[in-house]
Amino acid sequence: MQDTVDIQVTPLSPACGAEISGVDLSKPLNPHEVAAIKDAWGKHLVLVFRGQKLSQDDQLRFASYFGDLGSRKKPPAALRNRTEGSQQDNEKVLLVSNIKVDGKPIGAFGEGDFWFHIDSGYTARPYKYTFLYAIELPSRGGNTMFSNMYKAYESVPPALKEKLKGKKALHIHEYNRAKQANSSGDISGIPHCSHPVFVTHPDTGRKTLFVDRLMTTRIEGVSAEESDVILNELYEIGERREFIFEHVWKLGDFLMWDNRCTIHARTDFPKEERRLLRRCTVEGEPLYE
Ligand SMILES: [Fe+2]
Repeated sequence: MQDTVDIQVTPLSPACGAEISGVDLSKPLNPHEVAAIKDAWGKHLVLVFRGQKLSQDDQLRFASYFGDLGSRKKPPAALRNRTEGSQQDNEKVLLVSNIKVDGKPIGAFGEGDFWFHIDSGYTARPYKYTFLYAIELPSRGGNTMFSNMYKAYESVPPALKEKLKGKKALHIHEYNRAKQANSSGDISGIPHCSHPVFVTHPDTGRKTLFVDRLMTTRIEGVSAEESDVILNELYEIGERREFIFEHVWKLGDFLMWDNRCTIHARTDFPKEERRLLRRCTVEGEPLYE
């Protein structure tokens, strides 16, 4: 057990993101260290730890300081474009990887770019937090971009804020990475859930814009045409460059982010190169405006 708190916090962009140094996550942390990390997390939304050597158990122990670990979501049988990874042997862990062994993906989310999204935003209790650890990386690309959705909310024009007060939007997941879900047909067999367009963050009390391009398809209580126009405006606000911190991965990087106040996306990378990151999450709760 480490007894002292010697943690440094270095902001990484004006949008969000900070590097935390002075802590070895492979060892149990004392409550003061956890509190210092939580405090930095509340301010910076995305935390980056460099040069970590973490076993799966180390990662799960650290994540559990912040709540109950989330279980991996399994795609319904009808959605075969994401298979269950062959080396995912712990229900709390998801391997983000394009690696195949004997022709079978060892994990999920394969290759290519990945549009902005909220992890498990299509469920009734979206994960509070995601933790991602880099194990193998391509020579370039595969960066993770994070957008600060507090800032996005603040930038929604006042008239639109007024119009969307009390409104919910449908989030639907068809297990695509760069193609918007389609909510126009029968969605009963496809994971989906509605959440307020504007969510009050349960911990900070601040309002955030809870909408993403990949999975948020329909604002309830307005026409389909109007919903499309408004959602496009909201996606664009959420993806403004000045709200984005782009993380370029190095081996040993460990990132943690808050899904209630950020959205994230992946840039493309050479598909013939291996990429492997280990993900775990903290279970969420229903969200309210
Ligand atoms: Fe994600």
